[in-house]
Amino acid sequence: MASNDWRKSVVYQIYPKSFNDTSGSGQGDIRGVIEKLDYIRFLGADYIWLTPIYESPMYDNGYDISNYYEVNPQFGTKDDLRELLDKAHDAGIRVMMDIVINHTSTAHQWFVESSSSKDNAYRDYYIWKDGTYDVPPTNWESKFGGSAWEYDDDSNQYYLSLFDVTQADLNWENEDMRQKIYEMINYWIDFGVDGFRFDVINLISKGGFKDSDGEGKEFYTDGPKVHEYIHELNRHTFGGRDIMTVGEMSSTTIDHCLKYTHPDRNELNSVFNFHHLKVDYPGGEKWTLAAFDFIKLKRILMEWQVAMDEGNGWNAIFWCNHDQPRVVSRFGKDDTEENRVKSAKMLAIALHGLKGTPYIYQGEEIGMPNPKYERIDQYKDVESLNAFDTMREKGLDARMVLDILGAKSRDNSRSPMQWDSSRYGGFTEGEPWISVGKDYEKINAAQALEDKNSVFYTYKKLIELRHHYDILTYGDVKPYLLDDDHLFVYERNYSEETITVIANFRDVKVPYPQGVNTEGEVLISNYDDKVAGLRPFETMMLYRQNR
Ligand code: GLC
Repeated sequence: MASNDWRKSVVYQIYPKSFNDTSGSGQGDIRGVIEKLDYIRFLGADYIWLTPIYESPMYDNGYDISNYYEVNPQFGTKDDLRELLDKAHDAGIRVMMDIVINHTSTAHQWFVESSSSKDNAYRDYYIWKDGTYDVPPTNWESKFGGSAWEYDDDSNQYYLSLFDVTQADLNWENEDMRQKIYEMINYWIDFGVDGFRFDVINLISKGGFKDSDGEGKEFYTDGPKVHEYIHELNRHTFGGRDIMTVGEMSSTTIDHCLKYTHPDRNELNSVFNFHHLKVDYPGGEKWTLAAFDFIKLKRILMEWQVAMDEGNGWNAIFWCNHDQPRVVSRFGKDDTEENRVKSAKMLAIALHGLKGTPYIYQGEEIGMPNPKYERIDQYKDVESLNAFDTMREKGLDARMVLDILGAKSRDNSRSPMQWDSSRYGGFTEGEPWISVGKDYEKINAAQALEDKNSVFYTYKKLIELRHHYDILTYGDVKPYLLDDDHLFVYERNYSEETITVIANFRDVKVPYPQGVNTEGEVLISNYDDKVAGLRPFETMMLYRQNR
């Protein structure tokens, strides 16, 4: 690690199933991560975040955990994980685990017990409510489509599952259950992990169980006891220890996120929110084809930046993860090689100048675009397959539905990591579980490492800058030109220094902005020189001392 302050670190997210396969099974594994530690060290990331590798039936690729204490054999063994931790630590890389404690798989022993009878000691570990055969307890909708309630014939009750039917929501009102969760987290702390990413952690406290005018979110999002529970979790597990934490917050608010992360409250270090990634959901609808609303993107990002800074909270900053399409295809342009490289670098610089903890999702550092799948059988994600059926039932033609999935599906980020130009991008020697992106022969890590002008070296440099310049970590944030339709401009200020980031989000030439100080040393840019105006996607980070 570059420094003892976790705030200065950069995280590299790994989705092991799609990262690197060493066994020929067609699925990535833990040994595959070990094999690539040198690559991550060369990039310069301080932490890796591993999405869930626990035992799981894999209906939601590991976010459906059936045993918190065991490693899914598909990914390897606990010895492999031990070796990964040791080798990562030797390389100066820390490891964050993904912890899913809003729900478990219905294959988890607790749920097996819970669903066996109404009197079982584990019954109350989950949320069971009365309903009648055809009328569930409330009209809440699952985030993956359909009702959030699943009927159980034997007991004539329903259990709550906000995601897939095989992901049953835990009942955080139950103190025994909470204690068991804390024990489990302490087990992993003792095992040697350095941090946790808590999956949809702001959904753990359910409020009243009533019908909703919408999907039901208002009853369980940032629910009544959520801060109490997270505080308790902190006190019983990682609190006061050198463990970095980030909570995934679904449909949250700035006020809640200030509470989740204010150091005095002893909840979490940092939060992910997703408001800036809904700017291409017109009217809130994800499953559409729509250009992104650039002004809205800036306004949301900047509102969070300023408010979290002023209120002493802490954001995770990111464009990509395993649930989002590739940013270069989304907010950049991947139609030509030149546009792809320029816009991927633009997005990198624009994000890495912000305040918060930067996250890089595997492949983002080489500017991987969406894989451009053409057939429904190339999709594997439960949410995408449900959405396909729903859109088809609504009468949308198949071509259109495929175009929509091509832009919005979570599988856009789950296509295999492109390592080199060999078969399947060097991801596997077997048959990959999901198709490799079309452009792997040109866009891959081997090529990126060779070419000093590649997107990779922009990310590498951005990490170096973050480690070197305290202002990037501690400086405050001042937005400019929020209504400008081309430029994303902000300043960071810290003691007597200023950093200005100017990013042209469009593929046209525009004049330098008025009313913004554009002097200073260019710390990083995606063009080699400066000319009279800003060229397509031209972006720079400028540094000056104000003495
Ligand atoms: C989070 C995960 C996502 C998963 C969901 C349910 O949003 O990032 O992949 O499907 O939680 O666990």
